[in-house]
Amino acid sequence: MQLSLVGINHQTAPITIREKVAISGESLIDALSLLHAYVPQGVILSTCNRTEIYTVDDCDGDDAEKAILAFLKTRLGISSGELLKYVYTSQDMEAARHLFRIASGLESMIVGEYEVLAQVRQALETAEKTGMVNLPIRQAFYSAVRTGRRVREETGISKNALSVSSVAVDLAAGVIGDLRKCRMLIIGAGEAGRLVARVARERGASQIVIANRTKGRAQALATTLHGVPTDLSNLSEELCSADIVITCAGAPHWILDFHKVEEAMRNRSELPLVVIDIAIPRNVEPEVGRIGNVFLYNIDDLTEIANSNRKQRENEIHRAEEIVADEVNKLASWWRDLKIRPIVGALMSRAEEIRSAQLSKTLKKLPPLSDEQRESLEAMTKSIVARILKDPIQYLKTNENGHRAEMVKELFNLNAERPK
Ligand SMILES: NC(=O)c1ccc[n+]([C@@H]2O[C@H](COP(=O)([O-])OP(=O)(O)OC[C@H]3O[C@@H](n4cnc5c(N)ncnc54)[C@H](OP(=O)(O)O)[C@@H]3O)[C@@H](O)[C@H]2O)c1
Repeated sequence: MQLSLVGINHQTAPITIREKVAISGESLIDALSLLHAYVPQGVILSTCNRTEIYTVDDCDGDDAEKAILAFLKTRLGISSGELLKYVYTSQDMEAARHLFRIASGLESMIVGEYEVLAQVRQALETAEKTGMVNLPIRQAFYSAVRTGRRVREETGISKNALSVSSVAVDLAAGVIGDLRKCRMLIIGAGEAGRLVARVARERGASQIVIANRTKGRAQALATTLHGVPTDLSNLSEELCSADIVITCAGAPHWILDFHKVEEAMRNRSELPLVVIDIAIPRNVEPEVGRIGNVFLYNIDDLTEIANSNRKQRENEIHRAEEIVADEVNKLASWWRDLKIRPIVGALMSRAEEIRSAQLSKTLKKLPPLSDEQRESLEAMTKSIVARILKDPIQYLKTNENGHRAEMVKELFNLNAERPK
């Protein structure tokens, strides 16, 4: 049994590859169904910074990794050679450590961000719905969520935490100046859109327009933040009057293409337009950045603010790493117990079988005993068995590589699958 991870993230792959491999909330169930054709169990964690696949199965890690790579190849339609340039792999407790670091916000572009913890929980919940989760993988994800919570409660890593959304607003403010005088158009009213709108309001933006595919959602968000809702079909018009556009819709296609923005710019008499696209896949055609007076940024352009955020939290990162290490040790111990559970069960059954057979033979030879005397004999023989087995079971629990389980199996002539 082995936990395997295959992933692509903001440190290993350019945005052009990350957006190809990204799996939106809406297509996650379909992607999990496809993954099932390659591995029996799996969880897909796809956020704006990464797409990772975790699996646990009985074959050795190489087979699981090959299967996941084949799945990615099918999804991306690129050669294995090309794919291998961007992916990283990891096994067992190293894979768990990586997942725990993600849940803690240590692997995020914006260190300490909160959103990723919910995304880890959500990834497990969606995989559960498709029946792709077994006990070990569930335990790994539960432990990750617990680690993420502990890190945030026991360290200051998320104190006054930033998020990609808040950094996008700050970048816009840095480029354009006073937000109070600006009209901001937000495209997307999901989690990211909600955060962008909230931060924009906190930073003093007075005119906020929210465009979303589902109008009711734009309406609801606009109502809470005193903004104005609009339809995606009104974007051309909205572009003419906006100073800042922040896009964060989970669409698989461009929402703003070159022609739409170019046409709008013709009606703006030299007024600059700042466009910040934090969606993965991107919502804005990259060519838009070539249009005069348009200042286009994508999520990878947020690195400057991200780096200074990391620096401010450096002391807390060390404390967070200690919590991660502690939780990895706990999972490793649980994992070892799980691996030896069948052999311990078989060992205890064999001992109980011998104990009860020998006791009933002895009882037949003795004169009739009172209930109290019989119970004493039962308790005494059970205690002898428990004491004898204590050390072998402890010996199995400290087993690192499975060899001890095999040795105990041979010594006691056990069949772990079918205890006699
Ligand atoms: N969550 C974050 O903290 C975060 C941070 C940085 C970047 N992002 C990026 O932001 C994007 C949205 O993430 P999210 O977390 O906000 O997701 P979410 O909560 O699931 O919301 C998805 C949003 O995308 C819209 N959408 C989905 N499919 C669409 C389509 N085909 N055409 C137009 N709009 C569509 C949805 O509109 P409906 O209301 O009509 O469904 C909704 O507004 C993703 O690209 C993500 O990578 C998210």
